[in-house]
Amino acid sequence: MRKNIVAGNWKMNKNLQEGIALAKELNEILAADKPNCDVVICTPFIHLASVTPLVDANLIGVGAENCADKVSGAYTGEVSAEMVASTGAKYVILGHSERRAYYHETPEILKEKVKLALANGLTPIFCIGEVLEEREAGKQNEVVYAQLAGSLYDLSAEDFSKIILAYEPVWAIGTGKTATAEQAQEIHAYIRSTIADKYGKEVAENTSILYGGSCKPSNAKELFANKDVDGGLIGGAALKAADFKGIIDAFK
Ligand code: 13P
Repeated sequence: MRKNIVAGNWKMNKNLQEGIALAKELNEILAADKPNCDVVICTPFIHLASVTPLVDANLIGVGAENCADKVSGAYTGEVSAEMVASTGAKYVILGHSERRAYYHETPEILKEKVKLALANGLTPIFCIGEVLEEREAGKQNEVVYAQLAGSLYDLSAEDFSKIILAYEPVWAIGTGKTATAEQAQEIHAYIRSTIADKYGKEVAENTSILYGGSCKPSNAKELFANKDVDGGLIGGAALKAADFKGIIDAFK
């Protein structure tokens, strides 16, 4: 059975002390009122080694927001999947639209990152999603298919089964403009159908597909109620423990 998951993407927010305080606060809140879904926080690299031992691994998984597409060596400023795993982190966001747009991450580069993440025992949270012009031209299915096929569909079924997907329409990220529940369900069902075509129905049914883009406590329940929406990848609302908890509670 696929899992329901609420994952936070802190992006480039919170210094180390602030990050530690947020992780502690969230851990306390969830220890007092256990979540009905898996909870993950993806933090800046420098927070990982401090945050992982602070949180109860049964309550909160910790992840990075990126990793390198190379194993090791002379790649100044990069952080490898092995380094991420050595902090105790279990997840890594890959292919976020901000990485694709601002750091020119191509499907080929992401394919390498996915392979290295899996080789180091990390669970990739792989992001896909179209920009506004593509949605307006009715090309969203084509776009997400190309993103999936370009980086993931060479994986074996066994490896693909380790991936969490996050559909994040770029026009909904940080804009306050959320996809409607119908729009989310429609494209999530399409994504699941392409997985079924490639890997079979069982793999497709077991893949968690999260929605991301201006998800907040007030709209999470309606979005997550859809049969093919298995939770959310949360940006802004993951930066306040109470808001993040409000979204986690959509599964109650
Ligand atoms: P917001 O929730 O701030 O729109 O960000 C979504 C996102 O990009 C999560 O990865």
